[in-house]
Amino acid sequence: MTPLDLTPDELLTTTRTVRKRLDLTRPVERELLQGCLDLAFQAPTGGNQQGWHFLLVTDPGRKQALADLYRKSKVENDPKSVPPREQRSMAASAYLAARMHEVPLLVIPCIEGRAESMPFMQQAVTWGSIMPAVWSFMLAARSRGLGTAWTSLHLAYEREAADVLGIPYDQVMQVAMIPVAHTIGTSFRPAARNPSGQHIHWDQW
Ligand SMILES: Cc1cc2nc3c(=O)[nH]c(=O)nc-3n(C[C@H](O)[C@H](O)[C@H](O)COP(=O)(O)O)c2cc1C
Repeated sequence: MTPLDLTPDELLTTTRTVRKRLDLTRPVERELLQGCLDLAFQAPTGGNQQGWHFLLVTDPGRKQALADLYRKSKVENDPKSVPPREQRSMAASAYLAARMHEVPLLVIPCIEGRAESMPFMQQAVTWGSIMPAVWSFMLAARSRGLGTAWTSLHLAYEREAADVLGIPYDQVMQVAMIPVAHTIGTSFRPAARNPSGQHIHWDQW
Protein backbone atom coordinates (compact mmCIF):
# COMPACT_ATOMS: atom_id res chain seq x y z
CA MET A 1 0.00 0.00 0.00
CA THR A 2 1.40 3.38 -1.00
CA PRO A 3 0.29 6.77 0.31
CA LEU A 4 -1.96 7.69 -2.64
CA ASP A 5 -3.48 4.21 -2.96
CA LEU A 6 -4.02 4.46 -6.74
CA THR A 7 -5.22 1.53 -8.82
CA PRO A 8 -2.75 0.36 -11.51
CA ASP A 9 -4.86 2.01 -14.22
CA GLU A 10 -5.06 5.27 -12.28
CA LEU A 11 -1.30 5.21 -11.74
CA LEU A 12 -0.62 4.61 -15.44
CA THR A 13 -2.96 7.38 -16.61
CA THR A 14 -2.10 10.03 -14.03
CA THR A 15 1.70 9.83 -13.98
CA ARG A 16 2.06 13.03 -15.95
CA THR A 17 4.83 15.46 -16.78
CA VAL A 18 4.70 17.68 -13.68
CA ARG A 19 6.25 21.11 -14.05
CA LYS A 20 4.11 23.84 -12.48
CA ARG A 21 2.91 21.70 -9.62
CA LEU A 22 6.31 20.73 -8.22
CA ASP A 23 6.55 21.93 -4.62
CA LEU A 24 9.88 23.76 -4.63
CA THR A 25 9.70 24.49 -0.90
CA ARG A 26 9.63 20.91 0.41
CA PRO A 27 12.63 18.57 0.43
CA VAL A 28 12.24 14.99 -0.84
CA GLU A 29 12.78 12.52 1.99
CA ARG A 30 15.58 10.03 1.35
CA GLU A 31 13.56 7.01 2.48
CA LEU A 32 10.76 7.91 0.05
CA LEU A 33 13.34 8.10 -2.70
CA GLN A 34 14.94 4.81 -1.69
CA GLY A 35 11.55 3.09 -2.06
CA CYS A 36 11.25 4.46 -5.62
CA LEU A 37 14.76 3.31 -6.50
CA ASP A 38 14.19 -0.16 -5.06
CA LEU A 39 11.20 -0.53 -7.40
CA ALA A 40 13.10 0.93 -10.35
CA PHE A 41 15.77 -1.72 -9.89
CA GLN A 42 13.15 -4.41 -10.49
CA ALA A 43 12.85 -3.33 -14.14
CA PRO A 44 14.06 -5.58 -16.96
CA THR A 45 17.35 -5.03 -18.75
CA GLY A 46 19.08 -6.50 -21.76
CA GLY A 47 21.70 -8.07 -19.52
CA ASN A 48 23.23 -4.75 -18.52
CA GLN A 49 21.77 -4.29 -15.06
CA GLN A 50 25.21 -3.84 -13.56
CA GLY A 51 25.52 -0.79 -15.76
CA TRP A 52 22.69 1.16 -14.11
CA HIS A 53 23.48 4.33 -12.23
CA PHE A 54 21.16 6.95 -10.76
CA LEU A 55 22.81 10.23 -9.76
CA LEU A 56 20.75 12.07 -7.15
CA VAL A 57 21.63 15.76 -7.22
CA THR A 58 20.64 18.00 -4.31
CA ASP A 59 23.76 20.18 -4.04
CA PRO A 60 22.73 23.79 -4.89
CA GLY A 61 25.88 24.57 -6.90
CA ARG A 62 25.59 21.45 -9.05
CA LYS A 63 21.86 21.96 -9.57
CA GLN A 64 22.54 25.52 -10.67
CA ALA A 65 25.18 24.36 -13.15
CA LEU A 66 22.85 21.68 -14.60
CA ALA A 67 19.97 24.17 -14.81
CA ASP A 68 22.20 26.63 -16.67
CA LEU A 69 23.13 23.94 -19.23
CA TYR A 70 19.47 22.99 -19.56
CA ARG A 71 18.43 26.60 -20.19
CA LYS A 72 21.24 27.15 -22.69
CA SER A 73 20.08 24.13 -24.68
CA LYS A 74 16.44 25.19 -24.40
CA VAL A 75 17.17 28.58 -25.96
CA GLU A 76 18.99 26.82 -28.80
CA ASN A 77 16.49 24.00 -29.35
CA ASP A 78 13.04 25.45 -28.65
CA PRO A 79 10.88 25.66 -31.77
CA LYS A 80 10.45 29.23 -33.03
CA SER A 81 6.68 28.88 -33.24
CA VAL A 82 4.31 26.30 -31.74
CA PRO A 83 0.71 25.45 -32.66
CA PRO A 84 -1.92 26.82 -30.21
CA ARG A 85 -2.61 23.37 -28.71
CA GLU A 86 1.04 23.08 -27.61
CA GLN A 87 1.34 26.58 -26.18
CA ARG A 88 0.23 25.58 -22.70
CA SER A 89 2.84 22.88 -22.56
CA MET A 90 5.50 25.32 -23.81
CA ALA A 91 4.58 27.80 -21.07
CA ALA A 92 4.88 25.05 -18.47
CA SER A 93 8.18 24.01 -19.97
CA ALA A 94 9.47 27.60 -19.71
CA TYR A 95 8.25 27.75 -16.10
CA LEU A 96 10.19 24.62 -15.18
CA ALA A 97 13.31 25.72 -17.06
CA ALA A 98 13.39 29.01 -15.16
CA ARG A 99 13.18 27.16 -11.83
CA MET A 100 15.13 23.99 -12.57
CA HIS A 101 17.82 24.88 -10.01
CA GLU A 102 15.14 25.30 -7.31
CA VAL A 103 13.73 21.78 -7.70
CA PRO A 104 14.75 19.88 -4.54
CA LEU A 105 16.14 16.88 -6.43
CA LEU A 106 17.43 16.31 -9.96
CA VAL A 107 17.84 12.63 -10.86
CA ILE A 108 20.24 11.78 -13.69
CA PRO A 109 19.83 8.16 -14.79
CA CYS A 110 22.94 6.84 -16.53
CA ILE A 111 24.05 3.64 -18.22
CA GLU A 112 27.52 2.31 -18.88
CA GLY A 113 28.53 2.34 -22.54
CA ARG A 114 28.32 4.99 -25.25
CA ALA A 115 25.74 4.54 -28.01
CA GLU A 116 27.76 6.53 -30.56
CA SER A 117 30.25 3.68 -30.87
CA MET A 118 27.69 0.82 -30.97
CA PRO A 119 25.93 -1.03 -33.79
CA PHE A 120 22.19 -0.39 -33.98
CA MET A 121 21.03 -3.45 -32.06
CA GLN A 122 23.39 -2.80 -29.19
CA GLN A 123 22.24 0.82 -29.06
CA ALA A 124 18.64 -0.35 -28.74
CA VAL A 125 19.58 -2.79 -25.98
CA THR A 126 21.52 -0.10 -24.13
CA TRP A 127 18.77 2.55 -24.16
CA GLY A 128 16.21 -0.17 -23.50
CA SER A 129 18.17 -1.36 -20.49
CA ILE A 130 17.69 1.90 -18.59
CA MET A 131 14.43 3.41 -19.89
CA PRO A 132 12.09 0.90 -18.14
CA ALA A 133 13.87 1.51 -14.82
CA VAL A 134 13.45 5.26 -15.19
CA TRP A 135 9.77 4.95 -15.95
CA SER A 136 9.30 2.57 -13.00
CA PHE A 137 11.01 5.18 -10.84
CA MET A 138 8.58 7.83 -12.10
CA LEU A 139 5.55 5.60 -11.48
CA ALA A 140 6.78 4.75 -7.99
CA ALA A 141 7.33 8.44 -7.32
CA ARG A 142 3.78 9.31 -8.39
CA SER A 143 2.35 6.61 -6.15
CA ARG A 144 4.15 8.26 -3.23
CA GLY A 145 2.92 11.79 -3.93
CA LEU A 146 6.04 12.89 -5.82
CA GLY A 147 5.94 14.57 -9.22
CA THR A 148 8.48 14.05 -12.00
CA ALA A 149 9.13 15.23 -15.55
CA TRP A 150 11.24 13.41 -18.12
CA THR A 151 13.58 16.02 -19.58
CA SER A 152 16.32 15.67 -22.14
CA LEU A 153 17.49 19.15 -23.12
CA HIS A 154 20.61 19.19 -20.94
CA LEU A 155 21.94 16.27 -23.01
CA ALA A 156 22.98 18.76 -25.69
CA TYR A 157 25.68 19.58 -23.12
CA GLU A 158 26.14 16.08 -21.76
CA ARG A 159 29.92 16.37 -21.59
CA GLU A 160 29.73 19.58 -19.57
CA ALA A 161 27.15 17.99 -17.26
CA ALA A 162 29.45 14.98 -16.83
CA ASP A 163 32.19 17.37 -15.69
CA VAL A 164 29.82 18.98 -13.19
CA LEU A 165 28.91 15.58 -11.73
CA GLY A 166 32.20 13.73 -12.09
CA ILE A 167 30.69 11.18 -14.51
CA PRO A 168 33.31 9.34 -16.63
CA TYR A 169 31.88 10.55 -19.97
CA ASP A 170 33.82 8.14 -22.16
CA GLN A 171 32.32 5.11 -20.40
CA VAL A 172 28.91 6.28 -19.16
CA MET A 173 25.91 7.92 -20.89
CA GLN A 174 23.38 10.14 -19.19
CA VAL A 175 19.90 9.36 -20.49
CA ALA A 176 17.69 12.10 -19.00
CA MET A 177 17.30 14.59 -16.18
CA ILE A 178 14.29 14.03 -13.96
CA PRO A 179 13.27 16.86 -11.61
CA VAL A 180 11.59 15.36 -8.53
CA ALA A 181 9.49 17.09 -5.87
CA HIS A 182 6.35 16.61 -3.83
CA THR A 183 3.37 17.65 -5.93
CA ILE A 184 1.12 20.58 -5.10
CA GLY A 185 -2.13 18.66 -4.70
CA THR A 186 -2.30 15.02 -5.67
CA SER A 187 -5.01 14.75 -8.32
CA PHE A 188 -3.88 14.56 -11.96
CA ARG A 189 -5.97 13.85 -15.04
CA PRO A 190 -5.29 11.51 -17.97
CA ALA A 191 -3.86 13.28 -21.04
CA ALA A 192 -5.77 13.96 -24.25
CA ARG A 193 -4.30 11.75 -26.96
CA ASN A 194 -5.01 11.05 -30.61
CA PRO A 195 -7.36 8.09 -31.09
CA SER A 196 -5.17 5.05 -30.57
CA GLY A 197 -6.35 3.43 -33.84
CA GLN A 198 -4.06 5.73 -35.81
CA HIS A 199 -1.08 4.18 -34.07
CA ILE A 200 -2.00 0.51 -33.94
CA HIS A 201 -1.15 -1.89 -36.76
CA TRP A 202 -2.43 -5.45 -36.83
CA ASP A 203 -0.38 -7.97 -38.78
CA GLN A 204 1.05 -5.38 -41.20
CA TRP A 205 1.84 -1.62 -41.29
C1 LIG B 1 12.08 11.41 -24.25
C2 LIG B 1 11.38 12.60 -23.65
C3 LIG B 1 12.07 13.80 -23.56
C4 LIG B 1 11.48 14.93 -22.98
N1 LIG B 1 12.20 16.07 -22.82
C5 LIG B 1 11.65 17.13 -22.20
C6 LIG B 1 12.42 18.29 -21.91
O1 LIG B 1 13.61 18.37 -22.20
N2 LIG B 1 11.81 19.31 -21.28
C7 LIG B 1 10.50 19.27 -20.90
O2 LIG B 1 10.01 20.25 -20.32
N3 LIG B 1 9.73 18.17 -21.13
C8 LIG B 1 10.30 17.11 -21.77
N4 LIG B 1 9.55 15.98 -21.96
C9 LIG B 1 8.13 15.95 -21.53
C10 LIG B 1 7.21 16.13 -22.72
O3 LIG B 1 7.42 17.39 -23.27
C11 LIG B 1 5.76 15.94 -22.25
O4 LIG B 1 5.54 14.59 -22.07
C12 LIG B 1 4.81 16.59 -23.22
O5 LIG B 1 4.70 17.92 -22.83
C13 LIG B 1 3.46 15.91 -23.27
O6 LIG B 1 2.85 16.03 -22.05
P1 LIG B 1 1.68 15.00 -21.66
O7 LIG B 1 2.34 13.67 -21.58
O8 LIG B 1 1.18 15.48 -20.33
O9 LIG B 1 0.68 15.09 -22.76
C14 LIG B 1 10.14 14.85 -22.52
C15 LIG B 1 9.44 13.63 -22.59
C16 LIG B 1 10.05 12.52 -23.13
C17 LIG B 1 9.30 11.23 -23.17
